[in-house]
Amino acid sequence: MKNYAKLIYGLLTALCFTACNQSKLQLQTIDNVQLEKNLLKVEVLDKDLDVPWDICYADDHSLFIAEQGGAVSRIDLATGKKKQLFKIAEVWRKRTAGLLGMVVHPKIKENPYLFVNYTVKKDSLLIINRLVRYEITADTLKNPKVLLEVGGYTAHNGSRLAIGPDQKLYWATGDAYFGEKAQDAKSLNGKILRINIDGSVPSDNPSPNSYVWASGFRNMQGLTFSEKGLLYTSEHGDAIEDEINLIQKGKNYGWPAIEGKEDLPAEEAFALKHQTTPPIKSWTPVIAPAGIAYHNGKGIPEWANSLLLTTLKGKSLRVIKLSDDGRSTKGEEIFFEKHYGRLRDVCTDKDGAVYLATSNQDWNPSPGFPLPGDDKILKISKADKATHKVLSAKKMESIDLVSGKTLYQQYCASCHKEDGTGVVGTFPALAGSAKVKASPEMLIPILLNGIAKEQAGAAMPAFNFLSNEEAAAVLTYIRQNWGNKASTITPSQIKKQ
Ligand code: HEC
Repeated sequence: MKNYAKLIYGLLTALCFTACNQSKLQLQTIDNVQLEKNLLKVEVLDKDLDVPWDICYADDHSLFIAEQGGAVSRIDLATGKKKQLFKIAEVWRKRTAGLLGMVVHPKIKENPYLFVNYTVKKDSLLIINRLVRYEITADTLKNPKVLLEVGGYTAHNGSRLAIGPDQKLYWATGDAYFGEKAQDAKSLNGKILRINIDGSVPSDNPSPNSYVWASGFRNMQGLTFSEKGLLYTSEHGDAIEDEINLIQKGKNYGWPAIEGKEDLPAEEAFALKHQTTPPIKSWTPVIAPAGIAYHNGKGIPEWANSLLLTTLKGKSLRVIKLSDDGRSTKGEEIFFEKHYGRLRDVCTDKDGAVYLATSNQDWNPSPGFPLPGDDKILKISKADKATHKVLSAKKMESIDLVSGKTLYQQYCASCHKEDGTGVVGTFPALAGSAKVKASPEMLIPILLNGIAKEQAGAAMPAFNFLSNEEAAAVLTYIRQNWGNKASTITPSQIKKQ
């Protein structure tokens, strides 16, 4: 009997504990999202922020927020209580310069450190990026220690910070608008830097006494580790190709000689000479990728082993499925397109809830934005039932670009030549061809139906035996090579015709 009473008492307190805890944090739900099986809700965790450039989950179940102007705040995720910890007075803010990267040590109790990097104007001309470590206390940040300074500019300052499973600090720096710095081993710009948390150079970096871990980057705004300890970046391309890269020790990622895939003859030559590493995913036209985070599927099983990517120009959250070994990507889904505006950063908590930071108060807002309450921190987690408008994802078909090249060599190169130059008077050049770059509706029939032989000319055979996927791959290949910069063609566009 005594035991029975104890059990009831235990059950009651457990029930109350969950209920009371939940009642502490009442957030406003604004949307629901239907995944394959699970339903999600989107709630507003915080609003009226001044461009929250970086958000970081800390293992005491709090969320740190760095705003571009220099403010660092913390939200207790159990109670929703927010406190501004510090305002970094020396931050120089303009357009995309300001307080940019932030990371809290993943073991906050043993290492109560917060790392930030921000732009500072030293005199009227000299802009630098300063990497600083603070100690976190209950209500402020103290004892700033400058760990490193890297050249800066009014744009292309990167930056993101991450701490690896090796307990080292990683810093994704921008090329500071001078692409050649990314290939200059002496410059710390356009690099992934690897740093001990006291600011010294780790003894096992690729070159002795150099912070450089990997090189050849333009302007990265995403940096994250997967559960397996693989390091990924997102990077802004120049005009045509944005990238996701898998970062490996000592590798060169090609910028400025290579943008996106190694597909132009000059790019292929550079890649061969310098043994560069291509991206695991690229986008044309550009989407302006920003913060990324790895999701392990906890709480949201559909997102297991995915990279979550926020985009600015694309104004969306993209869920990019990784292969089992994490070395390639499989598919992509687009959420919230143009719904919340520009999205700057993303992170996940211990239960798999996802946090997004909007960026509609920044230097480049889109028409129709900011929305009331911008900028916001949104929380996405599992819901029991729909109470609001139910949104869904747009699925992107993944186009296999490697097979596009193989198919071209197999079926087309005999006439149009490997480099797309054709044979004068007989087989038209596909490089620079207006028909290749025309709308999909114009181009697809040429491939599927061919072109009948005119009086003296040669005929273009019909390729209606190709699968929709193969046809899409080969057309995408000819549209994005030899200087052609047209949009991709998807299998469903082929199917329609
Ligand atoms: C046997 C030779 C031959 C093969 C193989 C061939 N083509 Fe062609 N293609 C031609 C000829 C000839 C024309 C020009 C026809 C005309 O306009 O009279 C042409 C025209 C084109 C055009 C229009 C370009 C322009 O500017 O006029 C496209 C696009 C094209 N081919 C794509 C392809 C693709 C993709 C493949 C491979 C899947 C392919 N071709 C394989 C002979 C070939």
